[in-house]
This record gives sequence, structure tokens and C-alpha cells, in this order.
Amino acid sequence: MTSRTADAVLFFRTWLSAPLQVASVTPSGRALSSLITIEISADTGTVIELGPGTGVFTEALLERGVAESNLVLVEYNTDFAGQLSHRFPKAGTIQMDAAKLRKLLLQAPGC
Ligand SMILES: C[S@@+](CC[C@H](N)C(=O)[O-])C[C@H]1O[C@@H](n2cnc3c(N)ncnc32)[C@H](O)[C@@H]1O
Repeated sequence: MTSRTADAVLFFRTWLSAPLQVASVTPSGRALSSLITIEISADTGTVIELGPGTGVFTEALLERGVAESNLVLVEYNTDFAGQLSHRFPKAGTIQMDAAKLRKLLLQAPGC
């Protein structure tokens, strides 16, 4: 099984267990991920990606020259978050509800 097929299977299984949260039966395709990331480059700096799922947009960001260490991946689902941290070890993967991000940032020192 290719990694793309394995991702599609994981995505569908995860959708079955949490349909409202995952909200799609398949990951986004390459054309959409290319379009969504079109204005992002290596010079952008830190990129915070909310709900990366299996990492389709993450891959597109890397292809655009963003350093993996400049990526922060905020994913609620534990299976997706586990796979993301394995696949992108230099990125910061945070398993949390992105809606609580503001509260977390306000608690950070210096904010
Ligand atoms: C429609 S999928 C999109 C996944 C991926 N970006 C793609 O285009 O293939 C929505 C993603 O957002 C995640 N998600 C949903 N609610 C979230 C929340 N409150 N905080 C963080 N991630 C969330 C889901 O687990 C899922 O990975």
C-alpha cells in the first residue's frame, strides 16, 4: 500500500469514528494543497497549520521551501497527531483543540 493510500484509509477510518470533527471522507488533493499554499514561501517564517489531518498541506508547505522546524501543526485527533509527529519530527506537533489556542497563548510568558 502506498503512503497516499494508507493516508486515505486512515482518513476514512478516522472520519467514521468522528465524522463531525474530521468533516471530510478523504484528505485534500495535491491541486488544492498547491493552491492553498501558493502565497507561502521559505521567507514566510513560522507557519501554524490548524487541522492538518494526514499532512497534505504540510507536504505542500515543505515543497514551497518552508523549513520543517518552522511548522507548528495543531491537530485535535490523536491518531492524526501521532502520525504527524512521526512523519514530521522537526515540526512542532501539538495535539489540542485549536479553539483553545488563544487561551494557551495568553498564558505564555510575556503575553
Ligand atoms: C476536513 S479535515 C482537513 C484535513 C487536512 N487539512 C486536509 O485538507 O486534508 C479537518 C481536520 O481538522 C481537524 N480538526 C477539527 N476540529 C479541530 C480543532 N478544533 N482543533 C484542531 N484540529 C481540528 C480534524 O481532526 C481534521 O484533521
